[in-house]
Amino acid sequence: MASDFVLAIETSCDETAVAVAGGNGEILISKVASQIALHAPYGGVVPELASRNHSVDLRPLIDQTLVEAGIDWKSIGSVAATSGPGLSSSLLIGDTTAKAIAVGLQCPFYSINHMEGHLLSPFIGRGEAVSEHIALIVSGGHTMIVDVAAVGEYQILGSTRDDAAGEAFDKVGKMLGLEYPGGPVIGRRAEKGDRKAFDFPRSMIDSGDFQFSFSGLKTSARYALDKLGAEIGESVIDDFCASFEEAIVDVLIAKLFLAAERTGRRLITVSGGVSCNRRLRERAEAEARERGLELFLALPDYSTDNAGMIAFAAALRRLVGIAPSGLDSDIDPNLKLA
Ligand code: KG4
Ligand code: ZN
Repeated sequence: MASDFVLAIETSCDETAVAVAGGNGEILISKVASQIALHAPYGGVVPELASRNHSVDLRPLIDQTLVEAGIDWKSIGSVAATSGPGLSSSLLIGDTTAKAIAVGLQCPFYSINHMEGHLLSPFIGRGEAVSEHIALIVSGGHTMIVDVAAVGEYQILGSTRDDAAGEAFDKVGKMLGLEYPGGPVIGRRAEKGDRKAFDFPRSMIDSGDFQFSFSGLKTSARYALDKLGAEIGESVIDDFCASFEEAIVDVLIAKLFLAAERTGRRLITVSGGVSCNRRLRERAEAEARERGLELFLALPDYSTDNAGMIAFAAALRRLVGIAPSGLDSDIDPNLKLA
């Protein structure tokens, strides 16, 4: 069997993930050992618990991934791992494991920026080369709009000044007493609610730039909730979720399409955990159709944290001739995309 497979490890936060991609970026397998249930009682990720569990889960997950993919160690031609941004104690587990494997196999090691993984993920499975486009990345830790010229050539047009969109979903979910993480639950409940029931602010929607701010929205949600008092009916919660979601989606859509307009890019992509949001997906699709733009949405399996996107990014970097990282490369919890 050809030895150009990329084995990738992602442990930047609370998901232990391993994937294998072929030389052209086709994903053979992408597995996630989720820690969501473990952190749920705390209402957020506990870094110490996350890293301990990565170290327990990672090795068996790698073995399982290779067995299920039907490949052996000799077929691995490169190893990749997320080097940041993320929790340092979590990043270290994936980074050192991947480097040890690369030493053992005497093959190149690629240290991959988690945000580049998200950014390129809408191209997974399409068989299309990465061309110039505008990317919206919306996750639990980041919200940014990036002008992409090619693989490895990124210009950040704007990002959030405070909370990320996913973070706002999760914090408001917590306020409402919903299951952790709040984003998917709010998304589901919003489908049954009235989007106009509550008048939440669309901060910075008319600022004319690509900066975001979601902390005012979170405060406004807090006040609205306090005003409702203790006894809130289920249908009011649905309305609350629908109105809150719409406020976030309005801002994301406005800025994304403004970026396309300003730059003249004809292709736009949306990635990151929040890109699973149904309302965001349908609004982006409708707007792209109306403007005659092409839209690539990340597939749900590659939206929330996964190693498939890391394997894909490493394979694309290798394909375009970007040199592998040295084994002395370091992790960086605050790693920047550009
Ligand atoms: O990309 P991701 O898995 O992790 C980070 O890199 O941060 O994103 C996780 C975020 C969480 O905040 C989660 O609530 C949000 O994505 N999320 C959603 C949905 N599914 C996941 N937010 C809104 N609607 C969803 N359906
Ligand atoms: Zn992520």
